Amino acid sequence: MHFSERSIALLLASLAGSSLTHQIAQDPGVGGVPIEIVHLYDDEYPQGIAVSSTGRMFSNYARSLDPNNIAYTVAELNSNTTEVPYPTAEFNSPPGGAINYSTTPASGANYENYLIGVQSVVIDPLDRLWILDTGRAAMQNGTNVPASVGGPKLIGVDLSNDTIFQTIVFPPDVVFADSYINDVRFDLRHSVTASGKGVAYITDSSQEGRNGIVIVDLGTGNSWRHLDGTKYVRPETGFLPVIWGEVVYSLPNGPMQPISQSTFGADGIALSADGATLYWSAVGTRYLYSIPTTRLLDNSLTSELMAQQSVVSHGQKGISDGLETDTNDFIYGGNFEDNSIIFFNPANGTVNVFTRDPRIGWTDTLTVGFDGYIYFTENQLWRTPSFYPGTDRRVKPYVLYRAKLPGNGTKVVLS
Ligand SMILES: *[C@@H]1O[C@H](CO)[C@@H](O)[C@H](O)[C@H]1NC(C)=O
Ligand SMILES: *[C@@H]1O[C@H](CO)[C@@H](O)[C@H](O)[C@H]1NC(C)=O
Ligand SMILES: *[C@@H]1O[C@H](CO)[C@@H](O)[C@H](O)[C@H]1NC(C)=O
Ligand SMILES: *[C@@H]1O[C@H](CO)[C@@H](O)[C@H](O)[C@H]1NC(C)=O
Ligand SMILES: *[C@@H]1O[C@H](CO)[C@@H](O)[C@H](O)[C@H]1NC(C)=O
Ligand SMILES: *[C@@H]1O[C@H](CO)[C@@H](O)[C@H](O)[C@H]1NC(C)=O
Repeated sequence: MHFSERSIALLLASLAGSSLTHQIAQDPGVGGVPIEIVHLYDDEYPQGIAVSSTGRMFSNYARSLDPNNIAYTVAELNSNTTEVPYPTAEFNSPPGGAINYSTTPASGANYENYLIGVQSVVIDPLDRLWILDTGRAAMQNGTNVPASVGGPKLIGVDLSNDTIFQTIVFPPDVVFADSYINDVRFDLRHSVTASGKGVAYITDSSQEGRNGIVIVDLGTGNSWRHLDGTKYVRPETGFLPVIWGEVVYSLPNGPMQPISQSTFGADGIALSADGATLYWSAVGTRYLYSIPTTRLLDNSLTSELMAQQSVVSHGQKGISDGLETDTNDFIYGGNFEDNSIIFFNPANGTVNVFTRDPRIGWTDTLTVGFDGYIYFTENQLWRTPSFYPGTDRRVKPYVLYRAKLPGNGTKVVLS
């Protein structure tokens, strides 16, 4: 048997500890509600997760985050370890591919009737699936191409017959070619818009810096932006995470280019249980912000001034990607540096640990099911080649977990 010097030192230290009958305090590593494995991803690289009222599950596989996400960018989870393209294989396969190499520079294909590169899938209060297409994809060397009009869109799918019932294509002055529409939340109450068909709120996490919140009237299809380029939606200068003991620097311009700190803007988004407040967080910050939704729904002459004057900082919560709400009105998010998932309770203004486990690192997306569980994906995003040192250090499988919500919490249904 062979011992390293370090393991001998540790052994001696532990013997010394026990002979002194002193237990040396250490990080317990686990805490809170236990987590259970729901699905193992062995094929493409996943981010989002959506769970319907009947337990059907869907994920997305952004073509910007992994150029090998070719066969599908949305899939249904059809067993514990396999996935099938959704709604069809054809809809996931733009003719000639997701990238148009006939433009200079290359750009996202302009198809309205095909998926280009999907960053989010969400089940709305009426149990319909919405697909948020960024219109962007990465070339084999990892560089993301800008979107073309037709690419960035929001697509509604009726789960009773797996048929598309609505497609909203974003104009290029709302979702810019170098935008990256990231995540979306729905309020379908008739009262929120003149059209009476509800509204969607979307984050723009663009690494090129076009960060903001996009608002879409689902009845008219009209969309507009708020908080563009404000500090509330931007990553912080000097921000540096450590995840699983690894310091996380970005490589926004490619492997052999200078390294930088995080470049991800507004990403996670969650509505309060009453729909009156929208929360969001940039990945490149530890802060949680909110705004009254009335300030976002307003698109009048002075509405942006009033929006900026209405942002509330809830202080720090750790580093998160996705955010989610339940009927307790708790706002859940990852805390990458602590292997935990936290929740913010607006009723007492505190952040609390919900669950903690060494398998938790980059919690990409959280979604509350109708079954009283919160589901979340762990996808090791900081180990993709777009982070220093530019090599692929991800280890399959990626994992979908779930955990029981406190206080009989369940999905918020604003309809
Ligand atoms: C699949 O996962 C569920 C729990 O999410 C479990 O009940 C079931 O036994 C699993 N099926 C297989 C074949 O492992
Ligand atoms: C590719 O770009 C060319 C030149 O702009 C354009 O005519 C064509 O429609 C584009 N095709 C796709 C699929 O985006
Ligand atoms: C799918 O189901 C919805 C709701 O029942 C219905 O309105 C729609 O017409 C159906 N679409 C097709 C193509 O059958
Ligand atoms: C990737 O390839 C494209 C097209 O050849 C080029 O414009 C871009 O600079 C390359 N990116 C890197 C990081 O090398
Ligand atoms: C805040 O509320 C949460 C959820 O009810 C609770 O767990 C926590 O103890 C509260 N914190 C304080 C300081 O009251
Ligand atoms: C949760 O629901 C169960 C069964 O309906 C009930 O007994 C329990 O009191 C509820 N707990 C809370 C915290 O509401």
